[in-house]
Amino acid sequence: MPSYTIRMLVLGLESSCDDCSAAVVEETAAGPVLKSLVRESQDAIHGPFGGVVPELAAREHLLQVRAVMAGALAQAGIGLKNLDRIAVTRGPGLVGSLLATFSASKALAWREGIPWVGVHHLLGHLNATRFSAPGLPFPALVLLVSGGHTHLYLAKDWTSLQLLQKTRDDAAGEAFDKAARMLNLGYPGGPVVDACACIAKRAADPFTPPKFRDGKASWSFSGLKTAVKLRVERNPRLAAAGADDPEVQGLCRSLQEAISTWLLKPVPALAKEHGARSLVISGGVACNSRLRADAEAVAARTGLALAIPEPRLCTDNGAMIAAAGALLEPDAEPWIQNADADLKLGA
Ligand code: KG4
Ligand code: ZN
Repeated sequence: MPSYTIRMLVLGLESSCDDCSAAVVEETAAGPVLKSLVRESQDAIHGPFGGVVPELAAREHLLQVRAVMAGALAQAGIGLKNLDRIAVTRGPGLVGSLLATFSASKALAWREGIPWVGVHHLLGHLNATRFSAPGLPFPALVLLVSGGHTHLYLAKDWTSLQLLQKTRDDAAGEAFDKAARMLNLGYPGGPVVDACACIAKRAADPFTPPKFRDGKASWSFSGLKTAVKLRVERNPRLAAAGADDPEVQGLCRSLQEAISTWLLKPVPALAKEHGARSLVISGGVACNSRLRADAEAVAARTGLALAIPEPRLCTDNGAMIAAAGALLEPDAEPWIQNADADLKLGA
């Protein structure tokens, strides 16, 4: 059973991919309260490559980690001695990236004698929702969508996730990023596709949803990538036209519409099957304006309470790790723990 402590100050650290982030969170009887949040993006470094370069990300995290931690403490107006706990992402993620905050957190915990806990990244994304919906009714369907994950879970509380279905190939965020790359719209692709879709006067031809012969519930986004590629090959002008072009905007709108519709399609049936009372959507793709609007409609129709964190808490951040870490038992021997690129839930 999770232990819900009445009041503690937690420093949360996250560096599983290309964001180096720290936050101070006060855990109260009414839920977590955000005291500070600092995040250093590496978009300028990875942008020219159209995706995250693991070696560059790891090196950059090493340069960023000290200032990010100090910044979060200063913004919260506290020192290390005020902390009751340090929570850090243990995995999954890029191991070189994970190790930056993981090693720093162990050193701090050892030097200052602060209780320490390692957190599964996806439990973090779920707990990002606690800031705005601490009283969320369970069981909850939890849709976690980012550059690396497109997974739907059933949660019976804030610390347990049971997998219901996941993508067979690419993550939804990857489809946004790769499509944006083919259209030369920059990296990360999600925000710019979203912006283009919002100003589109009309949508391009719709994308055909994938069919699965084995009948198993899942998603697939690699075909969508190929479909965008074919459209650009048929109309090469699109690759250079840019975000102001009406045809590019229309394509972005169809792409975003397809991804949002496909993601939400299994929700009503699974909610019924599992007696879910709420729907949580988190991860970077949960920033998407169309997905947020469509989710509201689906939740209302299905009678589910809806919880989507504010956009800055949807993408990777230290606050969600602090919020999850506040509910877990600290580890008695942090020094022998290691980051795990393939960390399984419940491990
Ligand atoms: O959770 P996150 O920050 O990092 C991972 O764990 O991957 O998610 C990053 C992903 C990227 O693929 C990015 O393009 C996508 O989230 N993203 C969006 C939006 N904002 C970020 N996708 C769609 N619409 C957005 N507004
Ligand atoms: Zn993430």
